[in-house]
Amino acid sequence: MSNFGNHVQFEVYQTMKQPDPDRLPVSYEEWEAKARGVLDDGPFYYVAGGAGGEETMKDNLHSFSRYKIVPRMLNNVEDRDLSIELFGKSYDSPLLQAPIGVQSIIHEGGELASAKASAALNIPYIASSASTKTMEEIAEVMGEAPKWFQLYWNKDPEVTASFVRRAEAAGYDAIVVTLDTPMMAWREKDLKNVYLPFLIGEGVGNYFTDPVFRSRLESPPEENPTEAVMHWTKTFGNPGLTWEHLLS
Ligand SMILES: Cc1cc2nc3c(=O)[nH]c(=O)nc-3n(C[C@H](O)[C@H](O)[C@H](O)COP(=O)(O)O)c2cc1C
Repeated sequence: MSNFGNHVQFEVYQTMKQPDPDRLPVSYEEWEAKARGVLDDGPFYYVAGGAGGEETMKDNLHSFSRYKIVPRMLNNVEDRDLSIELFGKSYDSPLLQAPIGVQSIIHEGGELASAKASAALNIPYIASSASTKTMEEIAEVMGEAPKWFQLYWNKDPEVTASFVRRAEAAGYDAIVVTLDTPMMAWREKDLKNVYLPFLIGEGVGNYFTDPVFRSRLESPPEENPTEAVMHWTKTFGNPGLTWEHLLS
């Protein structure tokens, strides 16, 4: 499916039918509007909103729109090769799927659908620490396709070590350490919507199945989800993380 755009165009002009806005909206704005139509305020703004007054998000969008593709004319583009070498492996294109946790709040299939899509396109999928499906479930649906694991460094070092061991055992090729989340962000939309998916058991799949995390609880999460969620909130993030931890 590498020429998906061309494929859609051919279908439109061959059938002379407008693209069905329910099946395949054309523009990004239409996709967003469609999501707005099907999602409640909580999940929608958890994805669409940003931290603080969203100034950084707006600046990022503005900066990104200033990137331009440099046109290089009179090159033969019939057979394009976008492949790259990275960490001793070659990939078809210089694209990765960024880690996006708690996908179950926007689709019942959670992370499995996007992981399968990545596998089909051979684009490395970065499975989030905060996924609702476990890293093992995600790895299983992806087979041999390239996959990396995103690590949120936990306050409990044994949980952090356990996540790394599990990722290795499940066949992840690399660990991506997220450094910009030492603690939960101040998110105005989520505060107004009183929405934090983890409190309702979303995005905690890796934690609730982790043997070390479970060993810290008095009763298993299946019996006492409130205790498990409370323990999660106390140990998520790590404001004390420094270079020394990463090098140790
Ligand atoms: C809904 C949502 C969930 C995310 N979940 C994670 C996550 O679990 N782990 C992580 O490292 N980054 C997470 N991110 C951050 C993204 O991977 C990405 O770095 C960030 O959105 C910046 O890229 P952008 O400017 O294209 O949005 C999340 C972002 C969004 C919008």
